[in-house]
Amino acid sequence: MTTTTQQLDTSELEQRVKRMYEQVALEPEHEFHFETGRALAARLGYPPADLPLILEPALVSFAGVGYFLDLAAIAPGDSVLDLGSGSGTDSFLAATATTKAGHVVGIDMTDQQLRKARRLAAAAGFTQVEFRAGYIEHPPVDAHAFDCVISNGVVNLSPNKPAVFAAAARALRPGGRLALADIVTARPLPEGVTCDAALWAACIGGAMQRDRYREVIETAGFRIEAWRENPEYKFVSERADNATQKYGVTSVSLLARRR
Ligand SMILES: C[S@@+](CC[C@H](N)C(=O)[O-])C[C@H]1O[C@@H](n2cnc3c(N)ncnc32)[C@H](O)[C@@H]1O
Repeated sequence: MTTTTQQLDTSELEQRVKRMYEQVALEPEHEFHFETGRALAARLGYPPADLPLILEPALVSFAGVGYFLDLAAIAPGDSVLDLGSGSGTDSFLAATATTKAGHVVGIDMTDQQLRKARRLAAAAGFTQVEFRAGYIEHPPVDAHAFDCVISNGVVNLSPNKPAVFAAAARALRPGGRLALADIVTARPLPEGVTCDAALWAACIGGAMQRDRYREVIETAGFRIEAWRENPEYKFVSERADNATQKYGVTSVSLLARRR
């Protein structure tokens, strides 16, 4: 008897993810499998008073999946690392909270996202923010240099989630916070979904079963302190929505503390 096991082609995945988020940066009005922009941020619970602090070109390319900055509780003077910073919405809000007494480093692998975020940081005078090219699995930052690691809608895109959480633990000082929003599932996804690079790039195919996700975070050296569901987050296309219904794909926000 022969068994065929499908495998995700990770280099194809990286190219697809880059192409998709390049388009999110350059043509945000395009229709994606997922929602983007100001209306999404408002529905996810970003405080109305915060949205005017963000330049419109950053906000139109916002592609997050939940609000979590209340959990992050960023204070003036904090150092913050944003894993998968995209066009910069969360990095800019974090920078408003750190003030110029603090520092924010955003990491992204997609050139057009980085270029846009850097241009907008300069235009808005966010001198405390810097965007670096890199991968969230091994971000180019010093060990124990940050008070808080944030991320929005990104870890699900990584084929190596243990490496991402290990990198977050390495970047944080002991007692530092990890606050993020991400996509998880109630039931493990079948190979037909996890090996589909298009569904993966749309933030579905890479979503991990929630208990396993918590375990991976705790194994990396964190204690989970808060976990909440974001029922406001919805996928747009029928194909994405079908997988969502069938496997219980949902958005969550969480706070974890480095032990
Ligand atoms: C869903 S978007 C979210 C962007 C941003 N956090 C936001 O809320 O608008 C995912 C971002 O993560 C980046 N990304 C995905 N996988 C990555 C990886 N392994 N390393 C670095 N960046 C990655 C993509 O280029 C994209 O900008």
